[in-house]
Amino acid sequence: MAGTRRRHQRRALRLAPGATPNIAADYGFVQLDDVQTPALLLNVDGLERNLAKMAKLARGGGKALRPHSKTHKSPVIAKKQVALGAVGICTAKVGEAEIMVANGVDDVLITSEPVPRNMDRFVALAAKAKIAATVDDAEIVRELGRRAGARGIEIAIFVDVNVGQERTGVDAGPDVVRLVELICKTKGLRFAGLQGYEGHLQTRMPETERRALARVAYDRLADTKVLIKDAGIAVPTITTAGTGTARFAVEHAAVDEIQPGSYCVMDSSYSSVEPSFENALFILTGVLSVNRRDALVVDAGWKAASTDSGVPKVKDHPEATYREAGDEHGKIAGLAGRHRTGDVVWLVPSHCDTTINLYDKYILVRDDGAVEGELAIATRGKSA
Ligand SMILES: Cc1ncc(COP(=O)(O)O)c(C=O)c1O
Repeated sequence: MAGTRRRHQRRALRLAPGATPNIAADYGFVQLDDVQTPALLLNVDGLERNLAKMAKLARGGGKALRPHSKTHKSPVIAKKQVALGAVGICTAKVGEAEIMVANGVDDVLITSEPVPRNMDRFVALAAKAKIAATVDDAEIVRELGRRAGARGIEIAIFVDVNVGQERTGVDAGPDVVRLVELICKTKGLRFAGLQGYEGHLQTRMPETERRALARVAYDRLADTKVLIKDAGIAVPTITTAGTGTARFAVEHAAVDEIQPGSYCVMDSSYSSVEPSFENALFILTGVLSVNRRDALVVDAGWKAASTDSGVPKVKDHPEATYREAGDEHGKIAGLAGRHRTGDVVWLVPSHCDTTINLYDKYILVRDDGAVEGELAIATRGKSA
């Protein structure tokens, strides 16, 4: 037992500085049997393979990689991505960026537009680290310039371009040029490039259609770049893509940088359309009751698994199905009679981002199921 414990401690330290390396010291357990459920398990072997694979894909295509940390929400994993060649990271929110910077991640593109309400926090952060903003609004550009100028700093600005998702962003074309011209003449701001996130295509099937539509989205960015160049302004960077389109983005000449997020751990929705990355994230749920003949009652309900993209799948048991049964309860059909109260079942979340945001920490495991540490989900809940 002592030998096992020492082996696990050594391997935990390999993950990265900042990970709490040893559950045994903190909680008195080293075995999966002792993990309190429901728990979020992160297979660090799978994580490391996914990180290496995406780094290789970007490198091979001659593109910069700026992973979106909205998925994993961990500065430790962000630093690991940078160590593997990423130029920096994205965060969705100022609150996430604040935690990242405080933990030593110093190059961040915040992919949601700053607004007057959070702009002072944004500018204060930009005075400390390399922080870029994404904008789609002339009023915001003026206000950001005013506040950056008052602080004597210059902020890098990406224009958010609507490439078909119809969420945020200026429609590709001449409207973008007008906003870029405003940025260029606004003191305190520096035009850094275009961001166009084709979120509507990430899980589009069949794959041939996803590839073709992604190309159309990148063509829109490329055409807009030409219009900006015609106005005499250089476009330093075009940043785009998610996990479902990264392979296609690296094929396109106009794309400079990719910003996938989910690939690090994946989920059941994504792995059905992009099997080149592996599921490294699991919910460990405990069996609470075996009194229902048709189903196991488990301790993972709405508070343990997001269901915006469907319900989790039961790992390695395609014949079994999970369904929600309350805040703290779920039911698993297809395994009844095979478990006792207190057993555990592994679930594959349907949506990694929203599930991770429900937990304070990952329990780190290896391919063989050995538990070797925990890792804080440091930007969890930092949605403002
Ligand atoms: C602007 C932006 N870029 C990149 C991503 C990463 O996408 P994915 O998690 O699909 O890899 C997201 C995810 O929502 C996003 O909003």
